[in-house]
Amino acid sequence: MATQADEAQRDALAERLFGAALGAYELFTVHLGDRLGYYRALTERGDLTTTELAEATGTNERYAREWLEQQAVAGILEVDDVEAAADERRYRLPAAHAEVLVDRDSLAHLTPMARYGVSFAQTLPAIEDAFRTGGGVAWEDFGSLGREAQGDVNRPLFTHLLGSEWLPAIADVHERLQADPPARVADVACGAGWSSIAIARAYPKVSVDGFDLDEESVELARRNVAASGLADRVNVHLRDAGDPELAGAYQLVTVFEALHDMSRPVEVLRALRGLAAEDGAVVIMDERVADTFTAPGDEIERVMYTYSVLCCLPVGLADTPSAGTGTVMRLDTLRRYATEAGFADVEVLPIEHEVFRFYRLR
Ligand SMILES: C[S@@+](CC[C@H](N)C(=O)[O-])C[C@H]1O[C@@H](n2cnc3c(N)ncnc32)[C@H](O)[C@@H]1O
Repeated sequence: MATQADEAQRDALAERLFGAALGAYELFTVHLGDRLGYYRALTERGDLTTTELAEATGTNERYAREWLEQQAVAGILEVDDVEAAADERRYRLPAAHAEVLVDRDSLAHLTPMARYGVSFAQTLPAIEDAFRTGGGVAWEDFGSLGREAQGDVNRPLFTHLLGSEWLPAIADVHERLQADPPARVADVACGAGWSSIAIARAYPKVSVDGFDLDEESVELARRNVAASGLADRVNVHLRDAGDPELAGAYQLVTVFEALHDMSRPVEVLRALRGLAAEDGAVVIMDERVADTFTAPGDEIERVMYTYSVLCCLPVGLADTPSAGTGTVMRLDTLRRYATEAGFADVEVLPIEHEVFRFYRLR
């Protein structure tokens, strides 16, 4: 028979899942506002009626009205007069909310997470199959939404922190990147290229080679580099970082949030040793997960495990053989990979960030 404690536990989970479901549904409506240009129109034009928003974005008025009402009810938009007729009400996006929803450069920008959510939802049937077969789901299958979500989710961090806090915290690397002869940087698994761009921007002497094996990411990165005006110092190459032929003599080799996605991380780490010059530094940024398994976990562990189940583990298992790492790559796992790849030491760098941890491999 259910005790009072059982009932309380049942109700707590039911309530929590209701909140989660509501959050997920609202996230999808945020995605619509992002993709349809609704938030942008409200930011650029100020408060709008349903007809004005529909006209400004080339969308259907009836749908625009439903979305505006839903967003106001959800507390994302403000409405001037709730009692006015539906077609006369004016809706406004508060500036603070616009920063989260529209400002791609803000550290508070969160719409890329909505984009990731939609990409995961689209890929779920394939993931369900992978659970049954043990197969994987390739990164390409997460489509342009996944690729753009990944690029945009890290872009503000690279833009604001990489060249002004994170690399300056590694004193000898920071010094070498400013010195002559100009340093060369290999940015492995560069995705949309924002880290390569940020490094080149922060250190005007260096040249950066970005490498990624996903063709569309490479094209996206090349477009981003061209638009940033840094094409003379940043080149993006379509290459598998595990390729033993990769050779370089780079003063800095980086891997940002990608090692745990790789099917064969040891091969890639071995290749990084071949890329680094004798005095070159190898720096890895990966998720700041706890050093041991704990349950229940905090929000970082929870979000990392969701990424792992919904994306990173299936991506890692898409190739065979695979180490099957998943997002939750703990320190002892990285140490094991590094040792197998011939590194003598993994140093945890004293760089504080809520989500990421930095390592220097020697
Ligand atoms: C999660 S994304 C990170 C991208 C980027 N560094 C960032 O922080 O946004 C992982 C990237 O690793 C790339 N990747 C995975 N395995 C790779 C390999 N063996 N060689 C090169 N790139 C690889 C994928 O194509 C993808 O672009």
